[in-house]
Amino acid sequence: MLVCYETTNSDSLKSCCSSLSSKASSIVKGSKMRYAVVTGANKGIGFGICKQLISNGITVVLTARNEKRGVEAMQKLKECGITNDLVVFHQLDVVDPSSVSSLAEFIETSFGRLDILVWS
Ligand SMILES: NC(=O)c1ccc[n+]([C@@H]2O[C@H](COP(=O)([O-])OP(=O)(O)OC[C@H]3O[C@@H](n4cnc5c(N)ncnc54)[C@H](OP(=O)(O)O)[C@@H]3O)[C@@H](O)[C@H]2O)c1
Repeated sequence: MLVCYETTNSDSLKSCCSSLSSKASSIVKGSKMRYAVVTGANKGIGFGICKQLISNGITVVLTARNEKRGVEAMQKLKECGITNDLVVFHQLDVVDPSSVSSLAEFIETSFGRLDILVWS
């Protein structure tokens, strides 16, 4: 499943979605784990969606363009009582192709696939 919440209308959206969706695939039959990436997840809607996905047992890559703000968001999750292994931080600036490539490589290496992409 690819979920792409389009809140901007830019070339970077197309380019990032295209790059990440190439990693996306349907949930593999028999596989219990599902993997999601949430963009702009250090605050606002993205942060809230992370909490929802994690509470539904989905492994989430919480991304933020600014590493410090991303790490602070991870800390906030801990303060909300989310201390499990279902969330990991990775930097992502959606307008920076090298950042997008780095995330795609991380997903490939860590999970081998991506089930959900939330573009917040
Ligand atoms: N909140 C609502 O009720 C609502 C309703 C309808 C539509 N929307 C739209 O939904 C979107 C998100 O709303 P929100 O309330 O969650 O906004 P928000 O609290 O301002 O969060 C926006 C997030 O996007 C990140 N971001 C901005 N540019 C980025 C980039 N180049 N790469 C990666 N991340 C980037 C921001 O990172 P930084 O912290 O580093 O800036 C922040 O984490 C907005 O476009 C808003 O207009 C919101």
